[in-house]
Amino acid sequence: MEDLANRADIERLVVEFYGDAFADPLIGPIFTDVARMDLAAHLPVMCDFWETVLFAAGRYRRNALNVHLALHARRPLTGADFERWLSLWRAAVDRGFSGPVADRAKLQAERIAGSMRRRVEGRRAGDGTLPLRALTPETARYDPPRDGARTERE
Ligand code: HEM
Repeated sequence: MEDLANRADIERLVVEFYGDAFADPLIGPIFTDVARMDLAAHLPVMCDFWETVLFAAGRYRRNALNVHLALHARRPLTGADFERWLSLWRAAVDRGFSGPVADRAKLQAERIAGSMRRRVEGRRAGDGTLPLRALTPETARYDPPRDGARTERE
């Protein structure tokens, strides 16, 4: 099996993943009913995001954390939701790809999900809930603002 190598691969993975996520009985309704997310419209944003996370493409300049905080205000995102999201993501990666980049796609998703989860649960980094403090220069590419940092999306 090949590793993730370019945007076309990311697109294939993202389409696979959201196909499963939209159909999932637990988290699917968050996409289809709460956010009424138009996947076709969101696809380029998702690809920008993952290209930036995995290949430092620098294309994604929005704030994914704030999008999920806003979502959480409408429909609380629970630990179970994050676990489901991650297991679907891992499964989608493993079905299509294997290698160091595929591994990084899973690891980064875990880190980002952990960061989002802590924030929606109102926790701060470093309280021991998740091993997210060991940021390397690589993982630090995704750097959500800390409490107090405000962006135009808030
Ligand atoms: C409980 C787990 C999650 C749920 C239910 C969820 C659901 C959603 C929904 C409904 C949207 C569309 C929001 C809108 O446009 O109003 C969205 C956007 C997005 N999600 Fe998630 N998400 C979850 C976790 C994650 C994780 C862990 C990541 C990254 C690793 C992620 C990455 C993104 C990105 C990049 C966007 C686009 C944000 C933008 O518009 O700039 N999500 N998510």
